[in-house]
Amino acid sequence: MKTVLVTGANRGLGLGFCQQYFAQGDLVIAVCRPNACQKALLALKALDDKRIRILCADLHSQASISQLAANVSGNYTLDVLINNAGVSANEPFGQWTQDAFVDNFMVNSIAPSLLCQALIDSLASRAKVIQLSSGVASISHSNQFAQAPLDAYAMSKAALNMFTRRLALQLNDTEKVICAISPGWVQTDMGGQDATSTVQEAVGQIIGLISSLNKADNGTFMDEKGTQLPW
Ligand SMILES: NC(=O)c1ccc[n+]([C@@H]2O[C@H](COP(=O)([O-])OP(=O)(O)OC[C@H]3O[C@@H](n4cnc5c(N)ncnc54)[C@H](OP(=O)(O)O)[C@@H]3O)[C@@H](O)[C@H]2O)c1
Repeated sequence: MKTVLVTGANRGLGLGFCQQYFAQGDLVIAVCRPNACQKALLALKALDDKRIRILCADLHSQASISQLAANVSGNYTLDVLINNAGVSANEPFGQWTQDAFVDNFMVNSIAPSLLCQALIDSLASRAKVIQLSSGVASISHSNQFAQAPLDAYAMSKAALNMFTRRLALQLNDTEKVICAISPGWVQTDMGGQDATSTVQEAVGQIIGLISSLNKADNGTFMDEKGTQLPW
């Protein structure tokens, strides 16, 4: 039985990770904002509350991230940490705002960095640390998405990729594996209903990919099928 911590666990891909890891017998630590826990996660907890633990954190707050880490420390050793929570601003050039940039950078790149730092001693020696990145983070592929009003989002995910790479190099002499994975275009509140894959499909692929990761994958950026993506 693995111990898996998932942020943004109350809906979308995060809920999907909780459901599928739970179904395969793992212990899931589901992290939601305070008072944001929704019915589907509570229903899962009702099935076996020893294998679903719900912890709260608002990823806008370093104090809240530290409190989350303190609640994990000494109680759990994490085999998988999934930095899944994310936000996506939808502001075209000409309508950019400081608030949207700050929000996207805080939740999408700063919070995962601070959370990894705070949880470092709670990671198993062979832990896998996964950042939910995005194809729009790729600078090499930026011409594909140039017209989409996703500037703050794309920049914050590129920063998340840089964090992934830097942490991977700093932990290179350990057995831990740190990766950025793009889930593809998925039917969630963020992805919308026209997206090409369901949560169940994307999460199933990513869980399979995570289980196959080894040290050679440390510091890489890949899609949900395991194909390397250019930075
Ligand atoms: N869906 C796609 O097509 C797609 C494509 C590429 C990458 N991704 C990435 O995949 C990840 C999951 O996306 P999704 O589609 O499942 O998104 P989603 O349906 O919009 O869910 C986002 C999750 O993040 C949580 N969250 C946001 N701000 C938070 C905060 N300040 N503190 C704590 N939790 C917070 C939300 O909690 P609340 O309910 O409390 O807001 C929610 O659980 C994201 O990192 C996203 O960038 C998604």
